[in-house]
Amino acid sequence: MTDSLTLRRPDDWHLHLRDGAMLAAVLPESARHFARAIVMPNLVPPVVTAHDARAYRDRILAALPEGMAFTPLMTLYLTEKTEAQDVAAAHAEGLITAVKLYPAGATTNSAAGVRDFDKVRAVFEKMAEIGLPLCVHGEVTDPEVDIFDREAVFIDRVLDPVRRATPGLRVVMEHVTTSDAVAYVTSQDRDLAATITTHHLVINRNHILAGGIRPHYYCLPVAKRESHRLALRHAATSGDARFFLGTDSAPHTDPAKESACGCAGCFTAPNTLSILAHVFEEEGALSRLEGFTSLHGPAFYGLPPNDSRITLTRGDAVPCPAKIDTGEGPVTVFDPGFPLHWRVD
Ligand code: DOR
Ligand code: ZN
Repeated sequence: MTDSLTLRRPDDWHLHLRDGAMLAAVLPESARHFARAIVMPNLVPPVVTAHDARAYRDRILAALPEGMAFTPLMTLYLTEKTEAQDVAAAHAEGLITAVKLYPAGATTNSAAGVRDFDKVRAVFEKMAEIGLPLCVHGEVTDPEVDIFDREAVFIDRVLDPVRRATPGLRVVMEHVTTSDAVAYVTSQDRDLAATITTHHLVINRNHILAGGIRPHYYCLPVAKRESHRLALRHAATSGDARFFLGTDSAPHTDPAKESACGCAGCFTAPNTLSILAHVFEEEGALSRLEGFTSLHGPAFYGLPPNDSRITLTRGDAVPCPAKIDTGEGPVTVFDPGFPLHWRVD
């Protein structure tokens, strides 16, 4: 039995760091284990311009504790007013690593996102030309579509038509939750990859709804039925380089989660790697963990993998705080529902 595992230092290809006191509290939880992260731009107001991204990047770096190394990979929030030239200039100066597409109304702070995809066609074309990836929240917002079907419908109604209309556009389908998304990604031979979160490898919709409603398991896209979770586990542990880790760690305070209308998001940054080692071990795929956490993402983004390493060691149950304190209130850490034995040294 393997008791120790050394990996290239992981990166998180989808992370919410927020701002202000929350940023200061959650940033060390990611920087402790991850070298880089694609930072989501859904602040209030969103990170729309190069100027916004530069200022946010500087606030992140200023919040980083002494002695910790971490590179935020910045994204711009796509709106119907985004100018192709601004995006190209931000990319050319090395400020941004991707552009984020939120369909308007799909999730937290997405109101300024895209309603009419024709209005962002010129931006997509410019991105295809310069090779800048588009990170996609892949859910339709049509109220007629059942929430459990919104990802699958998005592929047919939006994603596939956009990709066909824009050859060369490089797309990351983020936080995929369905076997439909896995099948779509594996059916394409170029320019498409997907991130998978830690929590979607662990929970299905019963965990949220059976025997009482558990708001800390509610996120978007919402976890689906068990067959979908199994498809995600298969994709993540298969070694297929089109799938890599994007935790979507998304802190909200307990009062915001434990409410009659609770916010979407699971806060997984503190224990993600311990959980992933557990999942990959269960699947007999520990040798493929490094690809998922540390190699496939950089390869898609055309970045070198990290030179430094981390070591995971299996032993007695690893203590993990149930909550962390933030200047804005307590934030509950994702509970995988099983004891964790892999510790990051
Ligand atoms: O669960 C989620 N939380 N999904 C998202 O798409 C947004 C995120 C957040 O910002 O809280
Ligand atoms: Zn997210």
